[in-house]
Amino acid sequence: MFDGLFGMFSQDIAIDLGTANTLVHVRNRGLVLDEPSVVAISKSSNRKVVAVGHEAKEMLGKTPGTIEAIRPMREGVIADFAVTEAMLKYFIRKAHKRNHLIRSRLVISIPAGITDVETKAVREAAMGAGVREVLLIEQPMAAAVGAGLPVLDARGSMIIDIGGGTTDIAVISLGGLVTYRTLKVAGDKMDEAIIQYVRRRSNILIGERTAEQVKMKIGNAHPSVSTGSMELKGRDLISGVPRSITITGDDVREALADTVQVMVEACRSVLERTPPELSADLAERGLVLVGGGANLTGLDLVLREETGIPAIVAEDALLAVVNGVGIVLEDLEKYRGLLF
Ligand SMILES: Nc1ncnc2c1ncn2[C@@H]1O[C@H](COP(=O)(O)OP(=O)(O)OP(=O)(O)O)[C@@H](O)[C@H]1O
Ligand SMILES: [Mg+2]
Repeated sequence: MFDGLFGMFSQDIAIDLGTANTLVHVRNRGLVLDEPSVVAISKSSNRKVVAVGHEAKEMLGKTPGTIEAIRPMREGVIADFAVTEAMLKYFIRKAHKRNHLIRSRLVISIPAGITDVETKAVREAAMGAGVREVLLIEQPMAAAVGAGLPVLDARGSMIIDIGGGTTDIAVISLGGLVTYRTLKVAGDKMDEAIIQYVRRRSNILIGERTAEQVKMKIGNAHPSVSTGSMELKGRDLISGVPRSITITGDDVREALADTVQVMVEACRSVLERTPPELSADLAERGLVLVGGGANLTGLDLVLREETGIPAIVAEDALLAVVNGVGIVLEDLEKYRGLLF
């Protein structure tokens, strides 16, 4: 009975609004929603929303002329405000199950170093969904909390979050980002690199979804890990008809090499700018990989070799940010200093 009463007055929500996936944690209930950040809208009837999340992702690249499947977030920030707002509203209502959100507080993660205008857009999109108050936390900070790093302590923790649109690299100590970099190079750029590779080598055009499946199934970043091969179908650019080819793990590693190199260089530059006392902590404790891209086979090995410090993929790498925002939401007193 108390639970019921309490729940009625405190339906606070934590959200990881990602370029690829949006995840929602409700206070006292935990993770309740995990869906692709995709919206299908009708082009004919006034941009009416036709489907959101999983259902909309199935439609990507397969829509008829009257429907458009949109990813309203690009490179970590809102690219289409109205659609992002509609998507947030839909997810919040689905997670919340109640229609009155008036009393709810919302904690939402934003990329480190985004502009005031971009921050305002996130805040407004969330307010548009009908909550009482919106609190913001920087994504690398949330990721580090979610990965169980001692962010409030006077020692260095290093996190690399490889999402769909952005890669965030940060060194954290005493509840703040000491050094960080945000790259607009992450999972989406890997998919594009695979599309370009297949096009150049075999004159075949494949779609984004196929490229993503190739990456997840046989993608890798280090020659010591063997990942097999895969048959894939696309459109022959010369004859125009469907054709299939075989692609190997070695091919995919070659396709992804430049993208991986950008991440390595960025880690090096963050390390170079880190004060020596903290560097010493990092040499001992290493860096932690989170986000969907952290699951790219062998990426941890490359980072270890190229930076000289240990690199570990977090358990539940895809959930680190939402878990972190959730932990903060459950104990706002303790983590107040991380919010703005
Ligand atoms: N096993 C895997 N290997 C490589 N990449 C993967 C794997 N699993 C998922 N990904 C990629 O991870 C990305 C999604 O990760 P995540 O959900 O962390 O992104 P996001 O938080 O939505 O994006 P961002 O933080 O950039 O806004 C996608 O590009 C997806 O293809
Ligand atoms: Mg993310």
